[in-house]
Amino acid sequence: MKEVLKDRILAIIGSGAMGSALIRGLLNSGAMSPNQIIATDIDPKRLEEAQKLGCQVTSDNRLAARQSHILLLAVKPQVMDEVLTELVPAVNPTQHLVISIAAGIPIAKIEKHLPEGTPIVRVMPNTPAQVLAGASALAPNRFVTREQREIAKAIFAASGIALEVEERYLDAVTAVSGSGPAYVCLFIEALADGGVRAGLPRTIALTLAAQTVLGTARMVLETGAHPGVLKDQVTSPAGTTIAALSVLESRAFRGAVIDAVFAAFQRARELSQG
Ligand SMILES: NC(=O)c1ccc[n+]([C@@H]2O[C@H](COP(=O)([O-])OP(=O)(O)OC[C@H]3O[C@@H](n4cnc5c(N)ncnc54)[C@H](OP(=O)(O)O)[C@@H]3O)[C@@H](O)[C@H]2O)c1
Repeated sequence: MKEVLKDRILAIIGSGAMGSALIRGLLNSGAMSPNQIIATDIDPKRLEEAQKLGCQVTSDNRLAARQSHILLLAVKPQVMDEVLTELVPAVNPTQHLVISIAAGIPIAKIEKHLPEGTPIVRVMPNTPAQVLAGASALAPNRFVTREQREIAKAIFAASGIALEVEERYLDAVTAVSGSGPAYVCLFIEALADGGVRAGLPRTIALTLAAQTVLGTARMVLETGAHPGVLKDQVTSPAGTTIAALSVLESRAFRGAVIDAVFAAFQRARELSQG
């Protein structure tokens, strides 16, 4: 068990896609034991999985808050106001660390609901957390202590990597890693379609495409080499790779990706300001 998470009780408010992925990450990595986690949801079916894993479950958010040290808000942004209003009487700034993963909800908005001095960490995780390969960026408010930062990082590091950033970067983070799995899936699908076009059976093409993305991503992260250097290593003079790269460049592949990420960033900014 992670030392910094020892003896802490974590309440996950909303046990949907992300909430349950984070629970699985914490349990599978051994960062927490099931008796340290209380899962809540309004949908009893969502609680069945957490119960099977040995966690405590309840539909009473306030009860879960009163029994916990860490409150992880994993409901949809549209119901955050309602959930925060419900939780206020049970939140104690000296007892709780509040963590929100709701996209587009600024720390200032959460602070308005909660008692003065409540430590809050806003996080942008992503769906690969489901397979313990997530990427999360965390931004604390001024009341978060050094130990609480470590606690928040340990929770998200259990299902991938966790980086601390300033809150002003979270809209850009949303555009890169929050929405990123969708762009990467589009690329994997297209890479596999190319294989099918060239005569490969679909399942073989898809497996090769997905593993190529996974392996290349690992090379970038594990060697620290610039992607351009790794690209040059596969690109021999007058070979197959340069034939493909010149088509991608002539169709402005890189420009399209940059513009797409920037469009997501602008939309994230609009949503968090609205
Ligand atoms: N999925 C992503 O890629 C991703 C990435 C980054 C951040 N996020 C953020 O993560 C949060 C959760 O997203 P998600 O995809 O996991 O959504 P989700 O699957 O809909 O999970 C939210 C869960 O909360 C439940 N719920 C609704 N009202 C509640 C209440 N008052 N008390 C307790 N539980 C309640 C929902 O039940 P019902 O379905 O019955 O309403 C649902 O089971 C969102 O704020 C989102 O912005 C998601």
